Amino acid sequence: MLCVPDLKVLLSREQIAQRVAEMGEEIARDFRGQSIIFVGVLKGAAVFLSDLARHVPLDATFDFIGVSSYGGRPSPTQDPSGHATWDSSGEVRLTKDLDQSLTDRNVILVEDILDTGLTLNFIRKHLQAHQPRTLRIAALLDKPSRRKQPMQADYIGFTIPDAYVVGYGLDYAERYRNLPDICVIASP
Ligand code: IMP
Ligand code: MG
Repeated sequence: MLCVPDLKVLLSREQIAQRVAEMGEEIARDFRGQSIIFVGVLKGAAVFLSDLARHVPLDATFDFIGVSSYGGRPSPTQDPSGHATWDSSGEVRLTKDLDQSLTDRNVILVEDILDTGLTLNFIRKHLQAHQPRTLRIAALLDKPSRRKQPMQADYIGFTIPDAYVVGYGLDYAERYRNLPDICVIASP
């Protein structure tokens, strides 16, 4: 099944919907009777956050944080199947800070994909400076084989192989975020 030409479905919208619902139920169980704040990493996590949050029937608020990696990732325009084109230099910087304090809050940091671990290590450190009551990480996708810095998510949707994926919020040079399925770019 193809999403659009050159793209092959890795995770269908039905698989994603089922797993995201399970993750929401798990979070709701873990934080029963408490308030939480979802902090999404722009822009990739926006779609996942909006679905996940609707499966967590607790008192909740949203915030968003923006980061960018020096080195131009992710725009693997030259070679979508190669690594060098989407590897970052390792330096992450903040492009949009939180709108509210996280002090003494239960924070669920929501990310689309955990790859080298550089981004989440940077963000986790930044959020920890607010001294939240708890800080948990929910990542829809995990590519453990690509890790450069140790990082584990508390809630993981799917562990996937080392391939560049798009859709359900994830982009390729800013495109394909609106695909309902998660797809891999097929080899030419
Ligand atoms: P990390 O810092 O290497 O863990 O990368 C995390 C970020 O890289 C994610 O938030 C994505 O923006 C981007 N990324 C990593 N792998 C992919 C992929 O396969 N498709 C789209 N974006 C990716
Ligand atoms: Mg991202």
